[in-house]
Amino acid sequence: MYDIAIISGDGIGKEVMESAEFLLDKLDLNFNFKYGEAGFECFNKNGTTLPEETVKIAKSCDATLFGASTSTPGQPSPIINLRKKLNAYANLRPIKSYKGVKSIKDNIDFIIVRENTEGLYSQIEYGDDSQVIAERVITRKASEKISDIAFKLAKRRNKQKKVTCVHKSNVLKKTDGVFKESFYNIAKKYPEVKTEDFYVDATAMYLITNPQNFDVIVSTNLFGDILSDESAGLVGGLGLAPSGNLGDENALFEPVHGSAPDIAGKGIANPCSMILSTAMMLDYLGEKETALKINKAVENIVAKGKVLTPDLGGKAKTIEMTEAILKEVI
Ligand code: NAI
Ligand code: MG
Repeated sequence: MYDIAIISGDGIGKEVMESAEFLLDKLDLNFNFKYGEAGFECFNKNGTTLPEETVKIAKSCDATLFGASTSTPGQPSPIINLRKKLNAYANLRPIKSYKGVKSIKDNIDFIIVRENTEGLYSQIEYGDDSQVIAERVITRKASEKISDIAFKLAKRRNKQKKVTCVHKSNVLKKTDGVFKESFYNIAKKYPEVKTEDFYVDATAMYLITNPQNFDVIVSTNLFGDILSDESAGLVGGLGLAPSGNLGDENALFEPVHGSAPDIAGKGIANPCSMILSTAMMLDYLGEKETALKINKAVENIVAKGKVLTPDLGGKAKTIEMTEAILKEVI
């Protein structure tokens, strides 16, 4: 029995979460769902985008599923705060080309491991009208932890067994010096995994010219953020982009996309990012076979091209595509 926190949020977050629950209900596993509120509607009701009760629910569960939230003017982002409160320091974003979906090259299959807690996202900025300064905090501890996650993943993925460290240590000598050094320190623990390191600007180009080179990419917060959006663009966009946020005690899984107000309420959101994020959660929980089956089912339905939502060129509703995927899983 797994306790799962369900935080649907706003807009299509709620619609694709229904697909995730539908899927989990149909599996031959037992789940106990605990529901939490967050986001814009939650703010209008409770005066906060992330109630303490929701954080408590997420902390008490084996894993959390988050849909998407609409940003509330002047209020903090609930998802950024939730990641922080759960100390989910590793942001994992798998990037994969799908048969049937336009992609820059075939056979792209890598994962970006982004440090989620420090770097230029330390939110330490100060100064006056004439000069402002942002602090870029890099700690050896967080750098080693994120590298360790990257090496473990490379081992488990069993593909090229390679980790690429992305940095800019020629300019950011101290901060990225520590990041790169930490990477090679951790590498010593994993002699079976190959290593390489590139500057971030060159990496931005290699992702386009030779994306098949990559297996696992590890980087600091801002570089990881930018490169992962670039990478999602290489393989066909947001409808197929899942993500996970891992910490030592908690884990949170969410589609990369937002609440999509332009299509919310129409029942046409692509459920795949949410379904693939749910598969990542099952993999994290140790249900590897089920996770693989779900990934395969999404691949098959996308490749067949018969039941696709409008963003993938079809006419199907969210529920129809979800049902088609479910039929392939069971
Ligand atoms: P968005 O990801 O919601 O939408 C961007 C475009 O992609 C839209 O045209 C939308 O229709 C399309 N799209 C996104 N997901 C889709 C899906 N599953 N199926 C089909 N089409 C899909 O980003 P946008 O428009 O910049 O932001 C909308 C709201 O969501 C904002 O309030 C933003 O702050 C919030 N947001 C929340 C996130 C989260 O909760 N993690 C992440 C990104 C944005
Ligand atoms: Mg981003």
